[in-house]
Amino acid sequence: MPTTISPIGVFDSGVGGLSVLRSIREQMPDEDVIYFGDQGHVPYGPRSIEQIRNFSEGITKFLLKHDSKIIVVACNTASAAALKYLRATFPEVSFVGMEPAVKPAAEKTRTDKVGVLATPATFQGALYASVVERFGADVELFQHTCPGLVSQIEAGELDSPKTRAILEEALLPMLGKNIDTVVLGCTHYPFVIPLIQEIVGEKVRVIDPAPAVSRQVRRLLEAKDLVNESGKTGRVEFFTSGDAVAMEMSLPKLLGEDGKVKVVNWVNDLEIKNVNSQ
Ligand code: DGL
Repeated sequence: MPTTISPIGVFDSGVGGLSVLRSIREQMPDEDVIYFGDQGHVPYGPRSIEQIRNFSEGITKFLLKHDSKIIVVACNTASAAALKYLRATFPEVSFVGMEPAVKPAAEKTRTDKVGVLATPATFQGALYASVVERFGADVELFQHTCPGLVSQIEAGELDSPKTRAILEEALLPMLGKNIDTVVLGCTHYPFVIPLIQEIVGEKVRVIDPAPAVSRQVRRLLEAKDLVNESGKTGRVEFFTSGDAVAMEMSLPKLLGEDGKVKVVNWVNDLEIKNVNSQ
């Protein structure tokens, strides 16, 4: 049974979930965290729903083996493909997932025109369809998958000409349609907010859902009496299925903290080799 000293488990296909982890660290600095970036498989966006679901199940098992008291699916794509399945498969576990923030966007827009940036798998999933049905009825939504943007961010190219070109291709036509709000439906994208804001101008609101998601994590921990308030800064343990050195190098820039990253290997699409057995 997890205890209050157990960590919060957080995962993403790569470094994107660090935008959520950043908020968790701000709001709950005492909590220990295990972060898993599946960089051996990034990007998830163009993959099949079934494969993303398998990866998500394997990572969930890994995080539970490490005693996670709650699991944050800090990836819109994995949430779209797997959140419902994970909740059904691990009914005793609390999950917090991501969904494109169409609700706050619809509440705040004045032009009733909103841009949504997310991966192909996120737009295809039933979760996005349900968000649009519930909250998007009175607004016009303009969607774009920003091909290549996740890889640019993984490579640390937050403001290179190529990254700018990808964003301009997505955003300029939306601006032409008079959007006044942009929803970031992928956890990698908050890292390019300065560039997005440069392209769309200060008058267009850009919504990063991370603070709202960490508030939800906190609410769930409080409800289960699992909050860690030791008064000591919590530790973050990082794991990647890709290149540990590359992730270590991106931590100060993306998270604002240093960290040691351990490598784990996938045995097959559903199973990760435990780090202790390496
Ligand atoms: N960070 C991701 C998301 O929120 C995944 C991007 C990808 O791997 O394609 O959707």
